[in-house]
Amino acid sequence: MQIKRAAVIGSGVMGSGIAAHFANAGIPVVLLDIPAKEGDDRSAIAKGAIQRLLKTDPAPFMHPKNAKLVTPGNLEDDLALLADVDWIVEAIVENPAVKADLYRRIDPVRKAGSVVSSNTSTIPLGVLVEGQSDAFKRDFLITHFFNPPRYMRLLEIVGGEATRPDALAAVADVGDRALGKGVVRCKDTPGFIANRIGVYWIQTAINAAVDLGLTVEEADAIVGRPMGIPKTGVFGLVDLVGLDLMPHIAKSLLATLPENDPYRAAFREHPVITRMIAEGYTGRKGKGGFYRLNREGGGKVKEAIDLSTGAYRRSDKPKLESVSAAGRDLRALADFPDRTGQYARRVLAHTLAYAASLVPEIADSIVAVDEGMRLGYNWKQGPFELIDRLGTAWFADLCRSEGIPVPPLVEQAAGRPFYRVEDGRLQHLTTAGLYDTVVRPDGVLLLSDIKRASKPVWKNGSASLWDIGDGVLCVEFTGKMNALDGDVMAAYGKAMKLIGDGPNNNKGGDWKALVIHNESDNFSVGANLGLALFALNVGLWPQIEELVEGGQRAYRALKYAPFPVVSAPSGMALGGGCEILLHSDHVQAHAETYVGLVEVGVGLIPGWGGCTEMLARHAANPRTPKGPMPPVAGAFETISLAKVAKSAAEAKDLLYLRASDGITMNRDRLLADAKAKALELAAHYTPPEKVTYTLPGPNGRAALELFLEGFALQGKATPHDMVVCGKLAEILTGGPKADVTQPVTEDQMLALERKAFMELVRTEGTIDRVEHMLTTGKPLRN
Ligand code: NAI
Repeated sequence: MQIKRAAVIGSGVMGSGIAAHFANAGIPVVLLDIPAKEGDDRSAIAKGAIQRLLKTDPAPFMHPKNAKLVTPGNLEDDLALLADVDWIVEAIVENPAVKADLYRRIDPVRKAGSVVSSNTSTIPLGVLVEGQSDAFKRDFLITHFFNPPRYMRLLEIVGGEATRPDALAAVADVGDRALGKGVVRCKDTPGFIANRIGVYWIQTAINAAVDLGLTVEEADAIVGRPMGIPKTGVFGLVDLVGLDLMPHIAKSLLATLPENDPYRAAFREHPVITRMIAEGYTGRKGKGGFYRLNREGGGKVKEAIDLSTGAYRRSDKPKLESVSAAGRDLRALADFPDRTGQYARRVLAHTLAYAASLVPEIADSIVAVDEGMRLGYNWKQGPFELIDRLGTAWFADLCRSEGIPVPPLVEQAAGRPFYRVEDGRLQHLTTAGLYDTVVRPDGVLLLSDIKRASKPVWKNGSASLWDIGDGVLCVEFTGKMNALDGDVMAAYGKAMKLIGDGPNNNKGGDWKALVIHNESDNFSVGANLGLALFALNVGLWPQIEELVEGGQRAYRALKYAPFPVVSAPSGMALGGGCEILLHSDHVQAHAETYVGLVEVGVGLIPGWGGCTEMLARHAANPRTPKGPMPPVAGAFETISLAKVAKSAAEAKDLLYLRASDGITMNRDRLLADAKAKALELAAHYTPPEKVTYTLPGPNGRAALELFLEGFALQGKATPHDMVVCGKLAEILTGGPKADVTQPVTEDQMLALERKAFMELVRTEGTIDRVEHMLTTGKPLRN
């Protein structure tokens, strides 16, 4: 079956977010809620939800225009709309009787064979379908999205005894390809995978902090980075989710978990927390949580709760000997002879043993459990991967020393790891105690799998070249934060040599095309500023000039290479990272790609061809008015305001991406899509023609400067903004000698970029901005 249209019932936190995400996937969606009791508009609840979505930050819509794909309505007047949809997601209040009543009302009006799913967090499937028609039971499943639905990658799905396999398959497929989720099949057990383990972990971490007398900052510093968990740690996470939600989740789990489940023994109400909830200290959405920013007296002081008294005190970043001594060695952390080491021991032992004891009860394989925790709780490694980091035998000893039973799966591993690499393939231990290959969904191509199975074709300190099959070579950035430097440029040079003269005249080897891709959180946040600052401080001007010129040469070579270059970014592509995209023949972007030329923030201008390419894009855009000035004004606005697109769809609006560039919703499918496009282009490839620019020269520059002065008068531009943007205006208008009768060549444009860059790096304002960015991570407004 195919899913082309959807409906979501319940327009609360989850329902509205799920509807927005259907729209992000280009799937038209009906959003229904109960009729409004007051006012004339009976669909006011769902309509209000759409308005709220448009104001929420981070944005649930990848582009505001997606809101048009959501049709609001109410459950009395608009039930007939359900007759046209293929999948109905129910996301109303968590109450079995209310849900059952709704199902009975929608069953007669829905399309025959359409799928119905519930977003329930806690109600067993068997309970949900009780008393419903047989057809309903066949078409019904649970789809458990995580909050917020656009950003959280996990989608847990649960089928019942009667659920049609093709309904499950269709939902899994749309969830994966269209919605971009990591779809994990779970058994029909309380809390499914992620919340079952996550809630136990939170409870254990809170109990241990109280019992061992750790501060919330100490606890978070231990469970955060060292364990590969977001730095919010556990108390910061509860602040984010809401302290008041925890008792509800606990109550529903306690009502449904097996009698002997360890969560029952772990569950405790802490008087300080109970009092915080009662007094409205429910976390970020309330008056404060375990942490808060105290704005009394106009300041902003970070405070934390004292877990023994319940009073706020100034929050200090803890300096823990255990964490600094252990580094990345988790065993050393758990062995550290103080109460912080003891804390790490207790949390690791209990949480990981609990998780290991739940297979096969909650899922058939350990792979699903690890995936669930990575995608649902943003852990870098799942529980079984963490046990492997400790070693299964070492972990079994840890359990014994902490007085907890060694889970059967850990016993059975008998010292072997849960994962191993055999013949370049990742394998996992099954419940039968044998190794089996980790199977990726059809069509998924991961660079990490390729890296496991092969050696790089070539590498240096900042980049590697990989053979991704079928004659396609892939450049991976490998430096710290994927910063771009001379080594990355050298890697492009090497790739150019290897691929040789391209598909039509292939002297070098069997290569046909180049893909630029990596699996880090961020594609690249630009040039290596630390290196640049060092060079600035000691006045290494020729080296800086070479970095700029070498970058320009490399990017231009990619652009005019006799073979196609396809970039496949995900996460941030800023500054020099954005300029790579601008020079690619095609960009296949993950939907969650954040793109911008942000150089002005550090007192610079895009110097690797970014100004020139943005000008070309504005000139070629059919929406740009005719004449020499509009493209200049367009590029000037984008670069001077350092505009950042917060999705691939927005990047098309800002012309960082072309209308023809592709968007892939599921990150795991990005490389395969990019490779397919590269091969398609390689079949009939001709490099782009060089363009020239008709530019207004000093007259245009004067107009932009007038505009800048207006900004400065309104207090919107700082003195150094005036200097930097003045240079930008000079480049984009073609320099002091340009006029509309003399087209400016690309080489002349690049020379203007270099000149402006070299002038700016010598200013104090720019050096201060770079230094400030490196120390605080934020732009300086000087
Ligand atoms: P919510 O309280 O924000 O929204 C519930 C919506 O249901 C409201 O818009 C309400 O008007 C509507 N509603 C109430 N009675 C109704 C009725 N008789 N018929 C139709 N609609 C009715 O709730 P939330 O948080 O969005 O939860 C919805 C579902 O998603 C629940 O089953 C919950 O367990 C589940 N869930 C919640 C998560 C969360 O983080 N909030 C995460 C994952 C699942």
